[in-house]
Amino acid sequence: MKVIVTENKIQGGARAFEIFEKEIRNGAKVLGLATGSTPETLYQSFVASDLNCENLISINLDEYVGLKPDNPQSYHYFMQKHLFDKKPFKKSYIPDGMTKDVAATCKAYDQIIKEHPIDLQLLGIGRNGHIAFNEPGTPFDIGTHEVKLTENTIKANSRFFDNEDEVPKSAICMGSANIMQAKKIILMAFGEKKAKAIKEMIEGPVTEDVPASILQKHPDVTVILDTAAAQELDDKYKN
Ligand code: F6R
Repeated sequence: MKVIVTENKIQGGARAFEIFEKEIRNGAKVLGLATGSTPETLYQSFVASDLNCENLISINLDEYVGLKPDNPQSYHYFMQKHLFDKKPFKKSYIPDGMTKDVAATCKAYDQIIKEHPIDLQLLGIGRNGHIAFNEPGTPFDIGTHEVKLTENTIKANSRFFDNEDEVPKSAICMGSANIMQAKKIILMAFGEKKAKAIKEMIEGPVTEDVPASILQKHPDVTVILDTAAAQELDDKYKN
């Protein structure tokens, strides 16, 4: 894994954008996108740029089950607000959280990813090492699936809701097998609360207890951190 340490999340977002822009100019057509607070500065860089996204396809990692696309807490809403309203894509895929048939929706999403292989996948990471909503203990070899969220994740996400009871208890998300098929991966993490997960992801063993550790087996991963998220990392891993 290539590790880039920047001073703060603004610089981290700008650095990630440079990579996205270069890959798009070099022919990348399908972007795997993420939500959460981490990618906000990257999306700001997209919006501030003159990059045209109208020929690109985006495929998002995940969506809560039970939230309508116009619910301000849904990931559909997040993507519209932070990126798609200002930078429309040719086609944007996000799992349908309102589906009546979750299994069929997961299968169809795998098919979408198969038909549109992801050139560049963006990831954040949870404090417990999750990627997308693949929580510790999730098998590495599965595709899109429904996941029950852990208490920790529900708690971390509750800051976006009026109270913890309103936080959805499950989500539809890409599996590690989908993520590992992306040609290139950028994982971003900012803040000291991510430092332990980053250390375990890079320095620890590859284990389903730390879902992000599977990335050690991918040939092209760039990790973009701020100094706080990098603080526990051994110097030898920092480029
Ligand atoms: C979001 C996602 C999650 C987040 C992770 C970090 O699409 O897949 O794995 O990347 O929970 O969230 P933030 O960025 O809010 O710290």
